[in-house]
Amino acid sequence: MIIDTDPGVDDAIAILMALASPDVEVVGLTSVGGNVPRARTTRNALALLQAAGRSDIPVAKGASRPLRGRYAYAPQFHGPGGLSLRLREPVTVPIAEGAVEFLYSGLTYDLGETTLVALGPLTNLARLLWQRPIALEQARNIVVMGGAVDGPGNVTPKAEFNIYCDPVAAEIVLASGLPVTLVDLPACRQVSIGREEALGLRSEHPLGKLTLDLLQGWFRKGPARERFEFYDPLAMALALDPVVATVAKVDLDVGLEENDSWGETTITGGPGEITLLQQVDSGRFFRLLAGTLEIEGLPAS
Ligand code: RIB
Ligand code: CA
Repeated sequence: MIIDTDPGVDDAIAILMALASPDVEVVGLTSVGGNVPRARTTRNALALLQAAGRSDIPVAKGASRPLRGRYAYAPQFHGPGGLSLRLREPVTVPIAEGAVEFLYSGLTYDLGETTLVALGPLTNLARLLWQRPIALEQARNIVVMGGAVDGPGNVTPKAEFNIYCDPVAAEIVLASGLPVTLVDLPACRQVSIGREEALGLRSEHPLGKLTLDLLQGWFRKGPARERFEFYDPLAMALALDPVVATVAKVDLDVGLEENDSWGETTITGGPGEITLLQQVDSGRFFRLLAGTLEIEGLPAS
């Protein structure tokens, strides 16, 4: 598995899920700007792997800006440094190879064996499609967290953050005909946890403890925060356990007009190439989270 990411509190939890999954080999992380600038998402990826005792996993630097415009950044949600807890500065540095080249070599190393999980703006994936057109076709599966199809956005009423940050890249990826699985906001809103419940969670697993430090830290840093929605962790859960949700095959359009439809994701008919999540089995999701990270106290359903 390769994870393209803009850590990010929820990205970090998704990455820890993958690290804790016995039958997954995390080949590497590729960073992208998004929640916070690229330099910080890259540092956070290195710091998280170091805290997890996995500095053996490479981090390749990706895009610092979208194909058009600027990333929206979301320090108000993730904290100024992008994470809800202080991690020691990483002693490791990113590899020399950039994200596009790393994705190309990773996806073409074992044809059809590598799953790509994209948890941030889709700039790196669009560039990969441009520069190395055959690479994404070699992926075993491509799972993207993004979009707000038939539901309100979280940046504007119509747009979800990852798509809003780089709708041109999203259009390139979602219109490419590649078999992308899209985990959008209406799906993610089916798996969330309240403040009291979250603060009561416990784990003895080192990665479970780190997950709870991130989750509980997020609540503590925002006294008005009442509920955490598992955006990126649901995308990771879908990659680990595809029957965690029902799906529909659709074609999607991305809003590229510089008006209130910027970054909007709308169904243009179907059946199409995009596998869009529908009904999430929230019990199954929380059992997967509890099982991989040995967390006690998660909702049973
Ligand atoms: O809209 C949620 C997405 O935007 C998540 O990936 C979160 O990490 C932010 O990047
Ligand atoms: Ca993210």
